[in-house]
Amino acid sequence: MFREITLDLVRVTEAAALMSSKYLGRGDKEAVDESAVDAMRGMLDYIPMKATIVIGEGEKDQAPMLYIGEKVGTWEADAPEYDIAVDPVDGTRLVAYGLPNAVSVIAAAEKGKIASLPTHYSYKLACGPELVGKLDINAPVRENLKVAAAALGVEVSEITVVVLNRDRHRKLIEEIRRLGARIKLISDGDVGAAIATAIPESGVDIYIGIGGSPEAVLAAAALRALGGEIQVKLWPKNEEEKKYILEKGYDPEKVYYTEDLAGGEDVIFVATGITDGDLLKGVKYIKSKIVTESIAMRAKSRTIRKITAYHDLYHKNVPMKSKGGDVKFVELNFNR
Ligand code: FBP
Repeated sequence: MFREITLDLVRVTEAAALMSSKYLGRGDKEAVDESAVDAMRGMLDYIPMKATIVIGEGEKDQAPMLYIGEKVGTWEADAPEYDIAVDPVDGTRLVAYGLPNAVSVIAAAEKGKIASLPTHYSYKLACGPELVGKLDINAPVRENLKVAAAALGVEVSEITVVVLNRDRHRKLIEEIRRLGARIKLISDGDVGAAIATAIPESGVDIYIGIGGSPEAVLAAAALRALGGEIQVKLWPKNEEEKKYILEKGYDPEKVYYTEDLAGGEDVIFVATGITDGDLLKGVKYIKSKIVTESIAMRAKSRTIRKITAYHDLYHKNVPMKSKGGDVKFVELNFNR
């Protein structure tokens, strides 16, 4: 019998978001990440699936948990098989400094259907359903904005583009400003930014720029369910990476489309907000409750669920892998 795991995965990102939120604003990026990874890893152990991490914290031996190739899930004989991509915290700095837009994310797809890009960064262009098939990552920004405005039936000045605020985007930002579009500069967290383009109430139309490659794949999984699109090109950060991709036979000019990154029928994407953002509300402590908001979606059915959970501070257990199982949330001591 086929066992649907989408809602199980909500508990995974909830656990990661809850734990990392304990470190909100403490300036400790490592603690934010470590606690999320630990909780995510612990919760994954409970899920009836045979799953392998294909995008995680790194290769075996470099990361103690959620490393690439690690087996997670219960591995019962009749459990469904999945490849899994995780980013326990997208925007670790955002959580460490109490800033908006940090999320915990996970994606699952049939075996062999999640791409692993060979460069640390990639150049991305993401948009919502109304612009699918109309934009071209190889075209000048001016062209894409013109096409987008026409397709949306608005002026270029009414289009909102999201760009990571980085020096490497100086020219891109200047160009978008010159063309008269609105720009939303973000300091981190481009998984949520790319996904937001496919969510009408987010008020953003296009995400463009260079960001992490794993983040591109995770966004692709969500865009599959939302009917949006992401186009991606490898962006080697130095000569060494350039040489590496050529040696390995990658075409540096290849454009990866949404399905190249997260393919197959059964693609699942789940995220929980850690701090308030365009996509989700962040973790909130309200008296004895901790409130989380998550989004869960499946490409197969295109069902999008928003889930608000009220966790009781004094009854909540979180399975921390490093502690060997369930630990009372309220008792975990985080003075480092
Ligand atoms: P992490 O918090 O997972 O490290 O990523 C934050 C992030 O802003 C991503 O959303 C983005 O893709 C990437 O970093 C950009 O990299 P950089 O900060 O090196 O420009």
